[in-house]
Amino acid sequence: MFTMKELNQVRKKLNKDGIFLQRNVDFTKEELINLGEAISPKNKLLEWDFGKVMEMKHSPSNENYLFSDEGVPLHWDGAFHEVPAYIIFYCTNINSDKGGESLFVNTTKLFQSLNAKEKEELKKIRLEFSTEKLAHYGGKIEVPLLADHRSNGQKILRIASEVKTKKNPVKRRTISGSHELCQKLDKLAHEPSHLYEHQWLKGDLLIVDNDTFLHGRNPLGENTARSFYRVQAL
Ligand SMILES: [Fe+2]
Repeated sequence: MFTMKELNQVRKKLNKDGIFLQRNVDFTKEELINLGEAISPKNKLLEWDFGKVMEMKHSPSNENYLFSDEGVPLHWDGAFHEVPAYIIFYCTNINSDKGGESLFVNTTKLFQSLNAKEKEELKKIRLEFSTEKLAHYGGKIEVPLLADHRSNGQKILRIASEVKTKKNPVKRRTISGSHELCQKLDKLAHEPSHLYEHQWLKGDLLIVDNDTFLHGRNPLGENTARSFYRVQAL
């Protein structure tokens, strides 16, 4: 577990950059839970029917596409339930250095890259996301695309991509405002200047601000032993 001093450094880094990485970490599930509670503004983790720690590994028989070898389009966590402040990923195994890279997009920077007219147009855009509840999440939500970060007040964008899997697809519909601008944002988010691809090593501990960042992953390819523990800090 981290010392108080180390925890403060983690918090400082998250406040500054919204993302923290430490390699060669040797953590138990319990230590991960303790870390999540320590960095949670509410001192609390999100709990699902599987508990506080999700074990993320390739499992083709699972009806949720997250456990398949498919890519996962950009999204923020908790949209259909309760949105956590931070997500902690701890890599417990990999078998290839290609495939299954995680993708991260800083939406505050994406917002800042737009011109004044586009920033104004964003205020009008509302999106609907819907998916059948086959996994631990599901339902229909309507959200304004432009939002404020819960603690630093910076502008953030809630622009998850459509999920086109056969298993449990997520549909996106533009309810109001410019559909073209949404498509432009999808494109911009995938440009190398906005997209950080993280190639995992066993023992990587990565914490990401779920307000500022969208995340996703590349298809697993040969990296089918890729596995994680994941906790979500409220
Ligand atoms: Fe996610």
